[in-house]
Amino acid sequence: RERKRKEGVNLLELAASFFRERLKMPEGEGARQYLERRGLSPDVQQIFGIGYAPDDWEALKRHLTERGISDAVQVEYGLLVHREESGRTYDRFRDRVMFPIRDVKGRTIAFGGRVLGDAKPKYLNSPETPVFHKGRELYGLYEARQADHRLERVVIVEGYTDVVALAQFGIRNAVATLGTSTSEEHLTRLFRMVSEVVFCFDGDRAGRQAATRALETVLPLMIDGRQVRFLFLPEGEDPDTLVRREGAEAFQDRITCANPLSEFLFDQAAAGRDLARIEDRERYASQVLAALARLPEGVLKSLLLSELSRRTGVEASNFSALLARAKATAV
Ligand code: UTP
Ligand code: MN
Ligand code: MN
Ligand code: MN
Ligand code: MN
Repeated sequence: RERKRKEGVNLLELAASFFRERLKMPEGEGARQYLERRGLSPDVQQIFGIGYAPDDWEALKRHLTERGISDAVQVEYGLLVHREESGRTYDRFRDRVMFPIRDVKGRTIAFGGRVLGDAKPKYLNSPETPVFHKGRELYGLYEARQADHRLERVVIVEGYTDVVALAQFGIRNAVATLGTSTSEEHLTRLFRMVSEVVFCFDGDRAGRQAATRALETVLPLMIDGRQVRFLFLPEGEDPDTLVRREGAEAFQDRITCANPLSEFLFDQAAAGRDLARIEDRERYASQVLAALARLPEGVLKSLLLSELSRRTGVEASNFSALLARAKATAV
């Protein structure tokens, strides 16, 4: 298994340096211009190992084949696509800006490739391979730890370019999930390294829905000492556009002032409800209790319970009884 990992990683490192080389060559001109237009400096390109996959069906395949790597292995690690009908294989990534995805040790395990224009799909990612499981990996985590070995806080953003743009502005602790929502495994792994996670969502509908899912996912992990906050960007913005518009300091302030989990939880439950009405207050309290039922026992849970009691005027002991029952019936 470890041998397999080495084989895959060597191959993927070869591919990553191939893409970086190509970015510097004449054929990389369009990609270099694209990166410049997006304001990504050569320095930050280098930190993230950004490259370019040429507009060619077999460029990488030829390069790897010359180095003795079989088609089968190239397919297994997601670099070549195998077409069943014709039996032919060809480069998966063509004419795209390439973002290597690295594991925590800095080994390249996959790629994300962005089109230069607006063709679809905008990003093409490596498939699941023996070394890449996208529900576990976070883009930028290795680079964040390189920038600060005592990393205490990470900001989870949606996209590759958000991570890279923030880094360029000196905000070096952003990581991104890879086109999936944040999983329990992502968070468990992060909390082994840091005590604080700030979720940062695009200012759009999808971003707001993702926040609700993130809250659900993180609740069972909220043992005392861990901090979680939620940052919502203005409508139509993502971290990349916003940090360019308002600068690093203002963005950093948004991170620092992001909504703590406790407030987000109450805000969510209150949304669209008129808390002067008993029935609305009932639903409000039920929603908060359902969330509390998913929290581990601890100080945070007790504090939230007394806060709920304060906000609804119902004695905390009544809620505790309900909570115990909700827990007993929960699956
Ligand atoms: P976005 O559409 O917000 O991308 O998707 P972005 O990072 O802001 O892209 P730019 O600024 O236009 O370059 C967020 C993330 O979702 C995944 C990628 O990880 C992307 O960064 N995604 C998106 C895909 O995997 N495939 C897609 O086609 C689109
Ligand atoms: Mn898998
Ligand atoms: Mn979005
Ligand atoms: Mn975006
Ligand atoms: Mn973007």
